[in-house]
Amino acid sequence: MAIVEILKMGHPQLTRRADAVIPGLEESLGTLVEDMTDTMHAAGGIGIAAPQIGISLRVVVIDIPPTRLLGEESDEVPEAAGGENRPSVLVNPEILPLGNEIRHGWEGCLSLPGLRGLVPRHHRVRYRFHDLSGKVHEGQAEGLMARVLQHECDHLDGILYPQRMDDLRYLVYESEMKHYRRNDKEVQNDAGNG
Ligand code: NI
Repeated sequence: MAIVEILKMGHPQLTRRADAVIPGLEESLGTLVEDMTDTMHAAGGIGIAAPQIGISLRVVVIDIPPTRLLGEESDEVPEAAGGENRPSVLVNPEILPLGNEIRHGWEGCLSLPGLRGLVPRHHRVRYRFHDLSGKVHEGQAEGLMARVLQHECDHLDGILYPQRMDDLRYLVYESEMKHYRRNDKEVQNDAGNG
């Protein structure tokens, strides 16, 4: 088990587009994925992208407790969330918006510790990725899962969530979140750190 340093906003690595993993080499990613998983869990995150630990490869690990995904709108846990194989490892993930619906939700990021931002994201996406054995997975996700996928894929393109925000008044410290939590249907509560 190795917990490694998470790069923070301002580190140039976080602004670079990461390299695709060469098909067939997925199995060589075991140690990287272990480090990402251990580091994400130690920091209390629900997702992490390889560039956040200084590795410029298109690899994402997502671990969302299924109870957080159920009862949203769909009662299916998307395959990208790992199902019973948590955490889910996504190699060379690609996403496409499904429909035009945009929703705002609170996000945190392991590279911006202590902050939360209200970020507009596509409510539904289609996704495609390779797993560690090279097998291709495709599916659809919505709500929290779609948000986490967009957040993590942005990391692979060198984009941090404040760059997606449309109103920077809602970039706030976690300690001030109490002023903003509300049961507005348009605003999902707190997606957690990714
Ligand atoms: Ni992040």
